Amino acid sequence: MQRILAPSMLSADFGHLERDTRMIDESEAQWVHIDVMDGVFVPNISFGFPVMKPIRRATGKTLDVHLMIVEPEKYVTRFVEAGADWVTFHVEATRDPRGCINLIRRAGAKAGVSIKPATPPEAIAGLLPQLDLVLVMSVEPGFGGQSFMPHSLEKIARLRSMIDGAGLATLIEVDGGISAANAAEVYAAGADALVAGSAVFGAADPKAEIRRILQSR
Ligand code: DX5
Ligand code: ZN
Repeated sequence: MQRILAPSMLSADFGHLERDTRMIDESEAQWVHIDVMDGVFVPNISFGFPVMKPIRRATGKTLDVHLMIVEPEKYVTRFVEAGADWVTFHVEATRDPRGCINLIRRAGAKAGVSIKPATPPEAIAGLLPQLDLVLVMSVEPGFGGQSFMPHSLEKIARLRSMIDGAGLATLIEVDGGISAANAAEVYAAGADALVAGSAVFGAADPKAEIRRILQSR
């Protein structure tokens, strides 16, 4: 199975967005992860549309946007217009996940749904055939630099068998507390893509760290 890595811009230096995006662009990482927080769905505020521009300009790589906002259906189309290739919203944040998925698709992007640590994969079973991606949060969303929650491994494995059992191509992405120390185990549990923020940007040599995570065993 192919391993995908999505370094998270949440841990980048916002005074040097172009430089930090170029670093990912020149690295072996395939995606760029963009965390949008509204201060309502999560107890933190990150950034929105204007910050997408310098990131989009600095890379041709896949922009993987993770929306931690309430009523995502109000904004998904604008994120696609701002350059998102994949748009993922939280199933806990909307009353109409199907409508939201349709809006993302109609705007021309791939659609993902994310589940918080307390939400079981079974909660989104009915949505799987419509989804390009499921993002399993392995920390409480809101902040970088937290520790990986071990119970996520079992959730990833359950989701893997649900997807494979149904013969679907839905990707599994895992976000929170990922480093070269646990990446191999998380990929082995069934993840296709991993997000890493502090592990990448906190490293002395971020590109080498990206390679270490991708090649970990
Ligand atoms: C947290 C965000 C993550 C965050 C991960 O709510 O969704 O993408 O940047 O950061 P690390 O890798 O430091 O746990
Ligand atoms: Zn994220």
